[in-house]
Amino acid sequence: MGKNIDVELRNIKKTFQSNVVVQNFNLQVEQGEFISFLGPSGCGKTTTLNMIAGFLEPDEGDLFIKGQRMNGVPPYKRELGMVFQTYSLFPHMTVAENVAYGLKLRKVGKAEAQERVKRVLDLVKLPNVSDRYPKQLSGGQRQRIAIARALVIEPSLLLLDEPLSNLDAKLREELRDELKRLHQEIGVTTIFVTHDQEEALSLSDRIVVLNHGFVEQIGKPLEIYNRPASEFVHTFIGKTNRLSGEVVEQDGSRLLIKTDTGLLIRAGRQERSFVQREKVKVFIRPEKIKIAPAVTGQGGENQASGEIVMTSFLGAFSECEIHAGKLSLSAKVQMADSSINLEPGRAVSCSWDEADVLVLPTERDGR
Ligand SMILES: Nc1ncnc2c1ncn2[C@@H]1O[C@H](COP(=O)(O)OP(=O)(O)OP(=O)(O)O)[C@@H](O)[C@H]1O
Ligand SMILES: [Mg+2]
Repeated sequence: MGKNIDVELRNIKKTFQSNVVVQNFNLQVEQGEFISFLGPSGCGKTTTLNMIAGFLEPDEGDLFIKGQRMNGVPPYKRELGMVFQTYSLFPHMTVAENVAYGLKLRKVGKAEAQERVKRVLDLVKLPNVSDRYPKQLSGGQRQRIAIARALVIEPSLLLLDEPLSNLDAKLREELRDELKRLHQEIGVTTIFVTHDQEEALSLSDRIVVLNHGFVEQIGKPLEIYNRPASEFVHTFIGKTNRLSGEVVEQDGSRLLIKTDTGLLIRAGRQERSFVQREKVKVFIRPEKIKIAPAVTGQGGENQASGEIVMTSFLGAFSECEIHAGKLSLSAKVQMADSSINLEPGRAVSCSWDEADVLVLPTERDGR
């Protein structure tokens, strides 16, 4: 639809000494998009962000911002706002001086600078702290000031490197909602780095899942969650039950799989095609497993009877571990339908829908 592309990475590669830390990185970020880089520690998130910002140069590949090739262009000429992974406010400057710093560099006049500082401090909901020093602020307030400082120059692109990771759980969530509101309000194109799947799922228009410097998948949160491109993506994005087995029957794109423990699993329509007798891995998320009091004389598809061995009450739901013969299953039960007794020792039967079964081929393990 002819959308403007704000950032483009073409075949970006980065090596430190002989370590390849980013490779084959291809991405187009549309104007106004909120993109997350999601992946475990060391997968190359900060390195990639630093190449976009200009603090690092790629070894290979091309980087474009608003259609202009940026390789070799210094950071201050890229008109970006950036919030770094570690606190980065100047300790000897007040909040107002910190926020105004980028404006001073750009020789914005005093009156206008004051006005703009006031506006961004309102935006991050901290209008009354301009005379304080960073050490007189809480961790969450400091991160908001860091965000204000990045926004005050009205950047064409906002880069955020784990801005919430040093905060406690409740504050993280609050600031996450705030970021979402901010983005809806000002619509600045944003690249957000995180290793927290919930943050990525809740904030992003699209997520780039990274693993050891490789892009595993780029997609909308729902696509990443429901149609993962690989086992890595599926397991990184949430808890899951993993079983292995063999395809014993095919019916269009539906499959019947017999697991190594003898369970029969019917899997609904899959993206990939499989052949008869193919070894596969089967995944079912804990929240998709339904638990009922044990019934006798069963053994059909998508069922397993067993015994609860452990239950953890977590407020809105409970997590149960169930042993069914040699198989161990984890289930997440909403406490709203807690008519069932979940005490350890209880005999239960587990079941799930074929639509909630994900099948992936076995042989891509080597990567
Ligand atoms: N200046 C450097 N010299 C050598 N190796 C580096 C350098 N910077 C990063 N690395 C290595 O590159 C890899 C990617 O690092 P990077 O900082 O991009 O990871 P990250 O995904 O941001 O991780 P985290 O979530 O822990 O911040 C790591 O293995 C790291 O040790
Ligand atoms: Mg990092």
